[in-house]
Amino acid sequence: MIKDITIARPDDWHLHLRDGAMLEGVLPHTAKDFARAIIMPNLIPPVVRGADAKAYRDRILTALPDGMIFEPLMTLYLTEDTQADDVAAAHQSGLVKAVKLYPAGATTNSQSGVQDFDKVTGVLERMAKIGLPLCVHGEVTDHEVDIFDREAVFIDRILTPLRQKIPDLKVVMEHVTTKDGVDYVMENEKNLGATITTHHLIINRNHLLAGGIKPHYYCLPVAKRESHRLALRAAATSGDRRFFLGTDSAPHTDDLKEHACGCAGIFSATNTMSCLAHVFEEEGALDKIEAFASLNGPAYYELPVNQEKMTLVKEDEPVIYPEKFQTGAGPVTLFDPGFDLYWRVV
Ligand code: NCD
Ligand code: ZN
Repeated sequence: MIKDITIARPDDWHLHLRDGAMLEGVLPHTAKDFARAIIMPNLIPPVVRGADAKAYRDRILTALPDGMIFEPLMTLYLTEDTQADDVAAAHQSGLVKAVKLYPAGATTNSQSGVQDFDKVTGVLERMAKIGLPLCVHGEVTDHEVDIFDREAVFIDRILTPLRQKIPDLKVVMEHVTTKDGVDYVMENEKNLGATITTHHLIINRNHLLAGGIKPHYYCLPVAKRESHRLALRAAATSGDRRFFLGTDSAPHTDDLKEHACGCAGIFSATNTMSCLAHVFEEEGALDKIEAFASLNGPAYYELPVNQEKMTLVKEDEPVIYPEKFQTGAGPVTLFDPGFDLYWRVV
């Protein structure tokens, strides 16, 4: 039995760090294990212009505790008013590594997102030209579309025509949650990658809804039925270079999660690597965890693999993580995989 594994230090290709006291509270949890992360721009107000991304990056680096090394990879929030020249300049300077597309109203703080996709064609064409990836929250927002179908419908209605119109645009389907999403990536070789979260490899919609509603398992895209979870597991543990880790770790304080209209988001930064080692071991694929967490993402983003290493050790006794922790913004509950974890980052 394998008791330890050493991999290149991982990166997180989809992360919410927030701002202010919450940023200070959660950043060390990511910086402890991850060398870099693609930082989501859905603040209030959102990170729209290059200057906003520069200022946010400075706030992140200021919040980073002394002695920790972490590189935030900044993104811009695409709006119908986004200027192609501003995006190109932010990319040219090395500041911005991707642009994020939220369909308006799809998720937390997405009010300023895109409603009319024709209005962003110019920016997307420019991004295709300069090789700047588009990270996509792939869910339609139409009220008549069932929430469990929104990813599949997005692929048909929005993503397929968009990629036909601008085939040179590099797209990352963020947090795929369905077999439809996995199959779409598998069938499309060129300019397409996908992130998968830790929690979607572990929970299905029963965890969220059966036996009482569990607000800390509520996120968007919402967890789907078991067959979809199995498809995600197969994709993540396959080693296929198109799939890589994006935790979508998205902290909200407990009062906002445990609420009549609870916020979407699962906080998993702290125990993600323990959870992933557990999942990959269960699938007999520990040899593929490095591809998923450390190699495939940099390859897609055309960035170097981290030189530093990380070792995970399997303990005989469960590794105990706190159920929740305090931040200056309030308490945040950590993702509970629902089973004991034995793998520890050393
Ligand atoms: C994210 C958040 O809270 O910002 N929530 C979530 O459920 N994943 C937004 C997002 O990525 O959809
Ligand atoms: Zn997210």
